Amino acid sequence: MAEVKYIIPHGHTITKENRQELKRHKSCILWYTGLSGSGKSTLANKVEEKLFDMGLHTYILDGDNVRMGLNKGLGFSEEDRKENIRRIGEVSKLFVDAGVIVSTAFISPFRSDRDMVRSIVTSGEFVEIFIDASLEVCETRDPKGLYKKARAGEIKQFTGIDSPYEAPEHAELTVKTGEKSLQECAEDVVDWLIANNYIPAED
Ligand code: ADX
Repeated sequence: MAEVKYIIPHGHTITKENRQELKRHKSCILWYTGLSGSGKSTLANKVEEKLFDMGLHTYILDGDNVRMGLNKGLGFSEEDRKENIRRIGEVSKLFVDAGVIVSTAFISPFRSDRDMVRSIVTSGEFVEIFIDASLEVCETRDPKGLYKKARAGEIKQFTGIDSPYEAPEHAELTVKTGEKSLQECAEDVVDWLIANNYIPAED
């Protein structure tokens, strides 16, 4: 670990609150968690479309995309997944500071890692959205054919098969993508954000 004793953070003039005032909405992390194939990225994308149409400033950090860049080289051991989430958590925190509503779509299977991210931002800025689709549903969908490969032993440590997923116990929102349409699920998220004063109601 490098020496941090002589690193002194700079206090900038323009604050998170200034940026939020300029944008006229709060910034927060919409943290989507759930099994592979549960619909995290699809829902995050649909919600972002709606928020964007409402004139809000958004960004999506997506598991498969981020793993090709910032987190290239990280695998799926417990240690690597922890580091994956730690980096995403820190990047998300920067986005919140920049006044953006940032959505993250990562399996993030471990409760302690998600709670760690919650702990590094201000209370209320971490909105945990549990994409509650059963393993059966995800495995039937198998959009990338990865469950089939995992069952065949070609992929090891696959979440839900031979690596655990710890469902949230106190998620702000639970969305059952196996029971509702994409449109309805996205509306539920947007309605929650309005009801909890994160974003202004639509005119
Ligand atoms: S996390 O567990 O570290 O949060 P992340 O969301 O970044 O995972 O990446 C998950 C994606 O990587 C899956 O949707 C899938 O496409 C791919 N993947 C490849 N190998 C695995 C594996 N062993 N377990 C889960 N997902 C995997």
